[in-house]
Amino acid sequence: MWIPYNYFTMHTLHPIIHKHISLKPYHTFGINVLAAGLAQFESLGQLQALLATAEAQQFKKLLVLGGGSNVLFTQPFDGLVLKNNIDGITVVAEDDEQVWVKAGAGVNWHALVMHAVNHGWGGIENLALIPGCVGAGPMQNIGAYGVELQSVFHQLEAYHLHDKTCVSFSLADCSFGYRDSVFKRALKGQFVILSVTLRLQKQPKFNVGYGAIRTQLEEMGVQELTLQAVSNAVIAIRQSKLPDPAVLGNAGSFFKNPTVDASVFASIQQQFSAVVGYPQANGMVKLAAGWLIEQCGLKGFRLGQAGVHGKQALVLVNHGNTTGTEVLALSKMVIAAVQSKFGVVLEAEVNVY
Ligand code: FAD
Ligand code: EPU
Repeated sequence: MWIPYNYFTMHTLHPIIHKHISLKPYHTFGINVLAAGLAQFESLGQLQALLATAEAQQFKKLLVLGGGSNVLFTQPFDGLVLKNNIDGITVVAEDDEQVWVKAGAGVNWHALVMHAVNHGWGGIENLALIPGCVGAGPMQNIGAYGVELQSVFHQLEAYHLHDKTCVSFSLADCSFGYRDSVFKRALKGQFVILSVTLRLQKQPKFNVGYGAIRTQLEEMGVQELTLQAVSNAVIAIRQSKLPDPAVLGNAGSFFKNPTVDASVFASIQQQFSAVVGYPQANGMVKLAAGWLIEQCGLKGFRLGQAGVHGKQALVLVNHGNTTGTEVLALSKMVIAAVQSKFGVVLEAEVNVY
């Protein structure tokens, strides 16, 4: 039987719903937008109590948030925001080679990575410093530096908002893809993820195929690979080009890297010999959207208080007090410029509300 985190912990069963509250502190773009209501929950019991209240008070819609690092609000949120704070990291099984680690959906993702690194468990060290919470990881199958969540994913527990039941999802159930899962498609908006269980390795198999990691390890003078060395290299690379949301509001890559037919890639390459492309197992080629945007002369470009980041053109940033509509307008300019120059249509990676 699965016992929810905090089951034995004392907590209020009825968390407070704050009405007409700014979402600025609850998401990393730092945009000042109001929500009709916001409440935080630490357990399944609290979530259920909140859902009953939301129904009684006739909130028009619900939105679950973790760290708010992959969302853009373009208008006031006319519903109840539920901030997931379910805590807890537990080893649920182990054998000589592997360990199965279950984490509450509200656990900070990077804290889980550091927990694994410090215990000598391999598999998520390349995913160090990705902002946000564990529960959002499966939403878009988070990935970085040659590793995606799906490579260590075992299962997750989620609460069905309509049926009011807890459901367990296996790897196959999640239909993971590049920045994609069943929770962004067929089951969109239906489940609240409560916990995620990962299968980690006691004898780490390092994945340092991503060019930038190897270069960084050399620069750091690393002779022998360790989990600490790899995660430190990833942290250093990320800090060198990705903006810290505490300083400059953003939600990471605003667009996905587009995948095109090999023939389309070949014709782009004929015109632009330096185009960056990664051949995929299915014969398609993934293009580096940051390169495409930079070639359009947009790196560092500003539209009012919204901007294309000066060190990573795939990231849109808030230079002060931008609005969601301004960021959206900038994203449309970027899409139009890339389409006109390369004939490729960029798709948003960030969840726009
Ligand atoms: P939120 O922004 O709170 O939510 C994202 C979506 O998931 C929303 O639709 C929300 O409704 C839904 N959701 C959240 N929690 C739950 C839940 N428990 N149950 C159901 N639905 C839920 N991403 C990468 O993949 N790789 C990167 O390298 C990367 N780098 C980043 C760098 C920076 C500087 C920033 C700001 C972001 C980056 N991201 C990256 C994006 C982001 O960090 C991830 O997508 C992360 O998993 C989002 O977690 P979150 O808790 O902040 O999710
Ligand atoms: N590039 C440019 N100009 C730019 C940005 C990138 O020419 O302004 C080129 C780089 O030189 C490199 C290539 O594009 O040749 C790829 O760049 P990078 O390694 O920085 O990765 P990315 O493709 O831009 C993706 C993810 C990131 C993830 C990194 C590392 C997506 C949408 N983004 O970015 O994820 O951290 O790889 O694996 O897949 C996120 O999802 O929010 C995110 C930050």
